[in-house]
Amino acid sequence: MTLERTYIMVKPDGVERGLVGEIIKRFENKGFQLIALELKTPTRELLEKHYADLASKPFFGGLMNYMTSGPVVAMVWSGKGVVKSGRVLLGETNPLASLPGTIRGDFCIDVGRNLCHGSDSVENAEKEIALWFPNGVISHTRVMEKLIYE
Ligand code: PPS
Repeated sequence: MTLERTYIMVKPDGVERGLVGEIIKRFENKGFQLIALELKTPTRELLEKHYADLASKPFFGGLMNYMTSGPVVAMVWSGKGVVKSGRVLLGETNPLASLPGTIRGDFCIDVGRNLCHGSDSVENAEKEIALWFPNGVISHTRVMEKLIYE
């Protein structure tokens, strides 16, 4: 079985508020596999590439200030359907529209402080993984795979 990969990022507010473990726990509990993780202070240049599609948006300046305000936790998660399911775990982009039980539904209020990012398609996930982890990620088949997948 070929497992999908997604790029998940805990944004500066999530790191500052000590929610990294909580966010990781939700992906681990679901059964997804962590295959890369780095705490890093992203450069503006890296963020401009990551958010290139949003450069003309009125909130772009605020988004850049927010995302450069402190370290982020960059991660790659692997698993069946992880791109779509990962975004379900995160909740809606606007936290007020997010259901309780999702990360944003449980822990935040404003879109400009929405704690986390998740790739929105398999194609974008692979682009984001290449951007944030240019040296690649680990390849490891878990012993417990048969407890997760039939
Ligand atoms: S849009 O306008 O439909 O393209 O935007 P959307 O797809 O909803 O969100 C894309 C990313 O922009 C972030 N965003 C914002 N950041 C700061 N302030 C405001 N007002 C704002 N609106 C949207 C949003 O969180 C998305 O970032 P990621 O990192 O993907 O969550």
